Amino acid sequence: MAKKPTVYKNYIDGKWVASATGKTFENVNPADTSEIVGIFQDSDERDVNAAVAAAKKAYRKWRLVPAPKRGELVMKLGLWLMENKERLARDATREMGKVLAETRGDLQEGIDMALLCAGEGRRMYGETTPAELPNKFAMTVRQPLGVCGLITPWNFPMAIPTWKMMPALVCGNTVVIKPATLTPLTVWNLVKGAEEVGIPKGVVNYVTGSGRRVGDPLTKHPDVSLISFTGSTEVGRSINLACATDFKRVGLEMGGKNAVIVMDDANLELALDGVLWGAFGTTGQRCTATSRCIVQKGVYDKFLKALTRRAKALKVGNGLDESVEMGPAVDASQLKTDLDYIAIGKKEGARMVCGGKRLKGGDYDKGFFIEPTIFADVTPDMRIFKEEIFGPVLSVVPFDTFEEGIEIANDSLYGLSGSIYTQDVNRAFAAMRDIQTGIFYVNAPTIGAENHLPFGGVKQTGNGHREGGHEALDLFSEWKAIYVDFSGTLQRAQIDTDDVVKVD
Ligand code: UN1
Repeated sequence: MAKKPTVYKNYIDGKWVASATGKTFENVNPADTSEIVGIFQDSDERDVNAAVAAAKKAYRKWRLVPAPKRGELVMKLGLWLMENKERLARDATREMGKVLAETRGDLQEGIDMALLCAGEGRRMYGETTPAELPNKFAMTVRQPLGVCGLITPWNFPMAIPTWKMMPALVCGNTVVIKPATLTPLTVWNLVKGAEEVGIPKGVVNYVTGSGRRVGDPLTKHPDVSLISFTGSTEVGRSINLACATDFKRVGLEMGGKNAVIVMDDANLELALDGVLWGAFGTTGQRCTATSRCIVQKGVYDKFLKALTRRAKALKVGNGLDESVEMGPAVDASQLKTDLDYIAIGKKEGARMVCGGKRLKGGDYDKGFFIEPTIFADVTPDMRIFKEEIFGPVLSVVPFDTFEEGIEIANDSLYGLSGSIYTQDVNRAFAAMRDIQTGIFYVNAPTIGAENHLPFGGVKQTGNGHREGGHEALDLFSEWKAIYVDFSGTLQRAQIDTDDVVKVD
């Protein structure tokens, strides 16, 4: 008899509690839908209110814990993730499908982020600067914001929650986290770690459920000072609008339509490896995934032929099998989106050179498997060129001159990541300057950002904030400028400044 799935609860004020609704939902393995990974709370506004109240209460004390001590707890959480990496990576593969090597990488990003932020507990630098008046001291310090609402996606179920939670905590905020309904287990694991390493009650709260019943009330709650969201542009826009009314701070990481430019002089083997990994790694389900490959005409036919051959040879299957190179789509709805875009691409007249179908037969029937798909001769007016698909569907576009390649790559509403393959250092530098993205690679794929550099995009990918790096602190803290006048007299800035140059 199959083991009964575990019921996981919300975590509010240091206690594991069932939702006020009494309802739950199932978390299903996309590689084998007969496996229920766990049962989670289908929460609503009442649970959100309780979590925010707990976070608000805990904030009073947590903000006063010295930052190096907060950093130490964040470090302990990072070490806890390190110890449990393999088990947690397996859980992540079971709940969202990507291959084990990649969920291990996802866990590693979480560990890296924790260790980076732990160090910030002893830095978090402000500035001292001279004052314009004598016997006056001027400096800046970072201050926490209060309760942060974190709304996280399913594609990096560990890394992205840590990108938000670790800097939020080290800056002195408390958090309420709402994971994607498709990946509540990985965030449950992270929160369990927070409990085990002794992060005080109320500092980290966890509420599962839908965007409408949990995400919305969290976004609109008057005691929440900040929302940090990663997900679709559509949801990001509605969060941005909701936060505009009371000027709530909001950090958004949204869509991408990332392009690789392959020049005639590129090392083609290297470019092939990079495009395949960027387009079909994580089943194309990364905001940084390569979805447009722009190839110079001199190598277009040769490159396309080799790319097609390599894509056809990719092994698709259950991510727990170490020999598998590409896992399933995350759920039925994402699979349908992928197949719909394939139909759209065909109708628009793009030339499909491989893939295009749902995989069937044997174990494939248990999950949401799809073939790696490539469209050639795609033109910028086509929807498959413009819209984010978030699946293993790559558009290949020919171009003539370098300038034309840059123009085609920049022809997008989004601007997250980009890349160029060339041996020409002058072209590489021109591309670094001219490509409109927040992240750019030379002779490397569009995926693979490292945690200590700022992560984020321009145009409709984001709203100007960055995650990762010390730049992440800018989202989760406010600057305070402090003046200390030790002259014992009233000194008027901009007015009493004429006498100060007298030296006799
Ligand atoms: C995402 O796709 O949402 O740069 C995050 C990368 C990873 C993170 C991706 N380090 O591809």
